[in-house]
Amino acid sequence: MNIFCYSLLVLLLASHSCLTTSQEVEDEKEFDYIKGSGKGPEDWGDIHEEWQLCNNGEMQSPIDLMHERVQVVSHLGRLKRSYKPSNATLKNRGHDIMLKWVDDAGSINVNGTDYELQQCHWHSPSEHTINGRRYDLEVHMVHQNSENKSAVVGILYTIGRPDTFLSELMGHIKSIAGTHEKEIVAGVIDPRHLKMGSRKYYRYLGSLTTPPCTEDVVWTLVRKVRTVSREQVRLLRQAVEDNAEMNARPTQAVNERELLLYRPNIHEESFNP
Ligand SMILES: *[C@@H]1O[C@H](CO)[C@@H](O)[C@H](O)[C@H]1NC(C)=O
Ligand SMILES: *[C@@H]1O[C@H](CO)[C@@H](O)[C@H](O)[C@H]1NC(C)=O
Ligand SMILES: *[C@@H]1O[C@H](CO)[C@@H](O)[C@H](O)[C@H]1NC(C)=O
Repeated sequence: MNIFCYSLLVLLLASHSCLTTSQEVEDEKEFDYIKGSGKGPEDWGDIHEEWQLCNNGEMQSPIDLMHERVQVVSHLGRLKRSYKPSNATLKNRGHDIMLKWVDDAGSINVNGTDYELQQCHWHSPSEHTINGRRYDLEVHMVHQNSENKSAVVGILYTIGRPDTFLSELMGHIKSIAGTHEKEIVAGVIDPRHLKMGSRKYYRYLGSLTTPPCTEDVVWTLVRKVRTVSREQVRLLRQAVEDNAEMNARPTQAVNERELLLYRPNIHEESFNP
């Protein structure tokens, strides 16, 4: 073998091992939001057997809340939130930023069952859409009951004035920007600062919007769309390691599900002006 061929071989081997290494790093992230990447939303259900529901579940989230399908009701009653300030940590999960309450941060009550607040995290743009319209940001407050069933409260945001809850966290989010799996102490965070601003909400049964896409999740989506600044959305977006343009799962088939919109009746309204 002459020296030229030898150098070529060394070069080929070196570039091959380089490729292999970068692929292995990529593999550390088990799923992503890029269509056609092999790990994108359309393939989540094939990545692990326990993730099957992502592909073949019949009651998946998010969905589009189209007016024609939504039934307006008052019997659901006001969303009963009893939150309290509690210590929390902030973690960069690579595909999103999660605020996790480490002590008891209170709960919501849905149909007589208490669901304890565990964590909240952000998706941009929004995952749920209303009449086909996607908003700029969506926060998910994840709760769990004593049987480990989840109830998620979602709030949608459009670009405008800054969101005061995110304003409290901006410094902390900056400090974990670009890190992988870094977790920091955020101190005492009051979940009541995550304002709903309206009593009206959508209710339906769905799933977690990330693998394993577990179903039987009680969804509450606040009707009122709140505001967030462009800078806040940008920070959340740029902070996450994958630096992708979005971390929103496409909307899923509604199938035969009931979509409800709770609206207080006039009687209740007059008691709580
Ligand atoms: C938060 O944690 C600190 C340090 O562990 C503790 O002193 C404080 O009492 C906690 N606050 C709440 C509201 O749990
Ligand atoms: C609410 O709870 C009652 C009694 O436990 C149950 O029969 C009913 O199906 C529940 N409704 C919903 C929407 O989960
Ligand atoms: C709920 O999850 C926790 C932690 O994963 C587990 O220890 C517990 O056994 C689960 N409880 C039920 C009722 O499944």
